[in-house]
Amino acid sequence: MRIAVAGGTGLLGRLVVEAATEAGHQVVVMSRARGVDLTTGRGLDEALHGVDVVIDVSNIETLSGAKATTFFETVTRNLLETGARAGVKHHVLVSIIGIDRVEWATTGRSSTRSGWRSPARCR
Ligand SMILES: NC(=O)c1ccc[n+]([C@@H]2O[C@H](COP(=O)([O-])OP(=O)(O)OC[C@H]3O[C@@H](n4cnc5c(N)ncnc54)[C@H](OP(=O)(O)O)[C@@H]3O)[C@@H](O)[C@H]2O)c1
Repeated sequence: MRIAVAGGTGLLGRLVVEAATEAGHQVVVMSRARGVDLTTGRGLDEALHGVDVVIDVSNIETLSGAKATTFFETVTRNLLETGARAGVKHHVLVSIIGIDRVEWATTGRSSTRSGWRSPARCR
């Protein structure tokens, strides 16, 4: 199987890439350092060509809820839209356990309402 790992150079991504490679899969690593920008879409069509499964473990380091929301919504939209064109069959998203239930003290908004990426919102 051909698996594309979004954020495959990150802390979690490196482990996912290693496990998928050891299991005998063809792995495509997607990160800016590998020529793919998940927010602008640069290199995404080429990276997802012939891919069966996308595993998204990308991340942004920020304390801004607005920046995080924009990043995760944009990345997920780009991956789903480009993935649909490329014939990707499965989209796996790693978030944080319980993210749906967290009330963010800094914003006073619930994670669900503020648009934080929860697995239930990405099919
Ligand atoms: N680390 C933890 O302890 C932990 C715990 C619970 C949940 N999680 C979740 O697991 C996921 C991954 O976290 P992590 O800690 O492994 O992240 P990380 O180490 O910060 O890695 C982020 C990855 O995303 C890539 N990336 C960032 N912006 C990008 C862009 N515009 N285009 C393409 N790639 C981009 C980075 O590569 P480039 O910089 O080269 O683009 C890198 O490969 C997140 O959803 C996080 O919430 C992590």
